[in-house]
Amino acid sequence: MTGSGKQCAGIVQAARPGKYRVGLVLGSGLGTLADAVEDAARIPYTEFPDFPVSTVSSHKGELVAGRLAGQEVIVLAGRAHYYESGDPTRMRTPLETMKALGCEILLLTNAAGSLRPEVPPGFPMLITDHINFSGLNPLIGEESEARFVDMSAAYDKVLCASLRKIAADNEIPLGEGVYAWFSGPSFETPAEIRMARTLGVDAVGMSTVPEVIIGRFLGLRIAAISTITNLAAGMQAELSHVETKEMGLKGVGRLTALVTGLLASLDKDVADA
Ligand code: HPA
Repeated sequence: MTGSGKQCAGIVQAARPGKYRVGLVLGSGLGTLADAVEDAARIPYTEFPDFPVSTVSSHKGELVAGRLAGQEVIVLAGRAHYYESGDPTRMRTPLETMKALGCEILLLTNAAGSLRPEVPPGFPMLITDHINFSGLNPLIGEESEARFVDMSAAYDKVLCASLRKIAADNEIPLGEGVYAWFSGPSFETPAEIRMARTLGVDAVGMSTVPEVIIGRFLGLRIAAISTITNLAAGMQAELSHVETKEMGLKGVGRLTALVTGLLASLDKDVADA
């Protein structure tokens, strides 16, 4: 750890002492889930050393420590995107903070554009693998041997299986597939989307992949869900950030059911093991 994660964890422990188990990162328009956290301490990012301050209008910039669906959770309502600063390491301190607070599981959410017409706006998509199309890596400059992170099973198979079951049990349509990280902030071109489709991509977005790399570096078990806000460039008339925010809101009910279902299932998981 770089050190500030432990310092930030101390700030959370002072506000709400406890042992936390799950870290949750909320993407564009998905912040309402943070409001559902009970017995919560809500701490603005500005109170932590080295936390990113988001410049995206739909991102709140608040750490919420509390209880959700029976689990002690740390929720990051608002994330840093590479395109805001040109720095792919901006989520390292927040994720180190979760790790220092005891989190073992990292649940990542985002807004994404779908390359599959059968997984349209408003649908959740389980990320089962990714393509880092940016050429960037948040571990560049890391000196420890731990930097050679194995990414062959980055998305936890047990958590993915639980999410599929929760979706089936609750009649939630759930796409799944490969997410590709493009740097943004401009959307992709139709030609880039055709290229991505040829490469086996199912959804595109501007986040999450750096967090998966850092999360695996920290030894966290990861599950990630996209909320599809639009069909990718060239597959519909035009793309706008307003639409991304609106469809994010539509998908939030399904996402909430999946996330709370997964949290509630975790103890069962352990009991079954
Ligand atoms: N491309 C990249 N990022 C996105 C998209 C998209 O189409 N939709 C939501 N986030």
